[in-house]
Amino acid sequence: MADKKAIVIFGATGDLAQKMIYPSLYFLESEGHLPPDLMIAGFARTHADDQGFIAQTRKDVMDNAGTLFSEDVWSRLAARMHYCEGDVTVPKTYAPLVKLLEGVTVCVYYLSTSPNFFATIACQLKEAGLAHGGARIAVEKPIGRDLVSCREIESALDETFGDDRVYRIDHYLGKETVQNLIALRFANTLFEPLWNRASVDHVQITVAETIGVERRWSYYDSYGALRDIVQNHLLQLLCLIAMEPPSDLDPDSVRNEKVKVLRSLRPIGAGDVERQTVRGQYRKGVSEGVAVPGYTEETGGSASDTETFVALAAHIDNWRWSGVPFYLRTGKRLAARTTEVVVQFREVPHYIFPRSDMIANRLTIRLQPEEEISLQIMNKAPTLEAMRLKPLALDLNLSDAFKKQRRRIAYERLLTEALKGNSFLFVRRDEVEMAWKWIDDIIDGWKEKDMKPLPYSAGSWGPSSAFALTERNGHSWYE
Ligand code: BG6
Repeated sequence: MADKKAIVIFGATGDLAQKMIYPSLYFLESEGHLPPDLMIAGFARTHADDQGFIAQTRKDVMDNAGTLFSEDVWSRLAARMHYCEGDVTVPKTYAPLVKLLEGVTVCVYYLSTSPNFFATIACQLKEAGLAHGGARIAVEKPIGRDLVSCREIESALDETFGDDRVYRIDHYLGKETVQNLIALRFANTLFEPLWNRASVDHVQITVAETIGVERRWSYYDSYGALRDIVQNHLLQLLCLIAMEPPSDLDPDSVRNEKVKVLRSLRPIGAGDVERQTVRGQYRKGVSEGVAVPGYTEETGGSASDTETFVALAAHIDNWRWSGVPFYLRTGKRLAARTTEVVVQFREVPHYIFPRSDMIANRLTIRLQPEEEISLQIMNKAPTLEAMRLKPLALDLNLSDAFKKQRRRIAYERLLTEALKGNSFLFVRRDEVEMAWKWIDDIIDGWKEKDMKPLPYSAGSWGPSSAFALTERNGHSWYE
């Protein structure tokens, strides 16, 4: 007999579930990727019944799907959906879930809640008899606020489900373009011989957003940009760029290499934070042509020392990368929405052309908003003078190359793999812990030096110190 499957979404009425998870399930339904007997249960505190919840979710899915919305697909998805109202800390609220999941043999519990509830939910699921052998638990980043709280959560997950049934989500790993970094590096002979300190001058990784924190203030204010983005998305990108070639695509082969990078990250402690890191917080300004409030005004003026911007210079102490700075930068309400990796190559070792004409090669891998790979190379300019040079870009626009493909939501891939029990796209416990260890040093350094966030205007590229950070080494951010 085929397994009866279910996915249970905790925090089902929250932003993430409504904007990403349910729309992802909708698209998977539309393409026939959901198992025929899959049940989808939402669990949240909001007072609603099945019908009320389904009606609310329909609105969010419609907004997301736009012209791709079809009543037919929606009714197929809605027929799978259920809702359980309850407080995750109260044991008796799990009773309806137990009833709903009767006969289900394969189940993914997806925790789209604050990390504060991860351990409680895992324990309550076990108490309710729902952590059986066919059950997996998927948790969203950040796992904890630091190494200590991360370990507490991890122990609870381990004791209730066992490490091999825990799926740690960093949605960047579900993005097509992020996976493409592995293909670019290891399916082409071109780059790998140059991918080291002999040819690379420095690397920049930027995750810039134009949005503010808006409805997520209460979560964001106790985390900030370092914990919200650097600890996970930025360090994952850094690992994929810096890791050694894995021997194969086995999940552990790749994760072993990523952990080695994290282990090689030079700690940034109190003695270095002022020189190697910048914290910022946005003030009011103009973002994409619209006047927007500052961070602390978003909830009516509560004072806060939480950073909405971080820039830092990291070093990887190993043979490949010794002496090559990796500049990482992220922020809300910045001048543009972009996620990109820039690999700046060294200058040629000897100049036969006018030095002033020469610009070193640069590889830009843009992940968002458009998927593009661009290699800047030097060319002869078609001038009368004998040899004048001009940099030109060899551009590969991936959206044009795969025009007919819909751009998937990262969660479509993650949900599919979690249901299949494939851990390739998920983060391993030691990766998360190593990342926290490195981040904790920075946070302790900030505290020790009393480093408060510097103001920057919404719509700018962050505090001016972020420019000084790279200029100190003769580099500058590419915008
Ligand atoms: C989330 C962060 O993990 O990633 C958010 O919590 C951030 O603060 C988001 O806005 C950015 O993701 P993406 O896919 O839009 O780059």
